[in-house]
Amino acid sequence: MKIGAIEIDKPIVLAPMEDVTDPSFRRLCKRFGADIVYTEFISSEGLRRGAARSCRKLKIFDDERPVAIQIFGNEIEAMVEAALIAEAANPDFIDINYGCPAKKVAGRGAGSGLLCNPTLMEDITAAVVKAVKLPVTAKTRIGWDEHNITILDTVKRLEGAGIQALTIHGRTRSQMFKGAADWTWIKRAKEIATIPIIGNGDIWTAKDAVKHFQITNVDGAMIGRGAIGNPFIFREAKALMQGVELPPPTFHERIHVAIEHLKMSIEWKGEKYGVLEMRRHYASYLKGLPNVSKVRDFLVREEQWQNIIDRLLEYEHECEQHFVEGTFDKLAQTLNDHSKRLVLEPAVTES
Ligand SMILES: Cc1cc2nc3c(=O)[nH]c(=O)nc-3n(C[C@H](O)[C@H](O)[C@H](O)COP(=O)(O)O)c2cc1C
Repeated sequence: MKIGAIEIDKPIVLAPMEDVTDPSFRRLCKRFGADIVYTEFISSEGLRRGAARSCRKLKIFDDERPVAIQIFGNEIEAMVEAALIAEAANPDFIDINYGCPAKKVAGRGAGSGLLCNPTLMEDITAAVVKAVKLPVTAKTRIGWDEHNITILDTVKRLEGAGIQALTIHGRTRSQMFKGAADWTWIKRAKEIATIPIIGNGDIWTAKDAVKHFQITNVDGAMIGRGAIGNPFIFREAKALMQGVELPPPTFHERIHVAIEHLKMSIEWKGEKYGVLEMRRHYASYLKGLPNVSKVRDFLVREEQWQNIIDRLLEYEHECEQHFVEGTFDKLAQTLNDHSKRLVLEPAVTES
């Protein structure tokens, strides 16, 4: 797949997620194999006004490249200005959000709201493409609702406006995040597209990522919620793409990466927000480990980061005891399982 100077075969990509994909998480996912990462979406109006919260999201680090800055808005002038500000922050490309379903965004005609105004979506895109030197991409949904699946039209419009790749989340706006993502529309969009298509929605495991490529024939696969508290999914998916099924991370690794993530989060956001934003990650970091509910309840309530780290290290010790005592034989067996070669199913082809 090619976006400007970036050329990666079948990239596995970290989705933009507000309050999740800050630099600490992006860098962690990068280290575990994410091929491309995106910032959280940034308001064009916020950038224009110089709002501290928006401007802070522009910060990127060299060790996370290639990285895209994602912007959203509903006015041509503001989006052009925001794109120029984003370009000055030196990302590898700029992504435009045409998918956010939140009322405060879509209700004001931005994000997925622009699916109801495709001419404006086209005009914003063309103006941004013209204004910046960097490649421009977009991320969208398959349509507004089940009666208005407009993705094939969107592909053509955005291609015509000059974007270099399109990410498609296989849900409508009215679905929000509920129901299953419809990969068949992603497949159909890929069939008519002349630019690279990145598929997104319901990739929860490495096997899902491989299946997504096979079923939709997309150029790249984007993982959102499946990566929360689970940056290991990139390592597993990259290996499985090569036919190697890795064992899941051990409890030692999960706990120590969670601690490292917490420290990075605090370094970036400060103690209060660093601790708060880590809360959505703990359930996945510790999923399936013994007697986890008590420790999880503690972690999502505790405000002092030192106490969180102490509790996690204590819990690591508790896990050791469980495995020594053999009460979790089955889990221990899974965790200690060695890499296996895996024969992948043949790709699904058109009949
Ligand atoms: C907490 C959260 C925040 C999100 N923020 C953004 C965002 O800033 N920009 C965007 O394009 N999509 C955003 N999304 C949507 C995801 O990028 C992705 O399209 C969606 O979660 C579907 O993929 P998944 O099934 O792999 O999670 C967000 C999703 C979640 C769960």
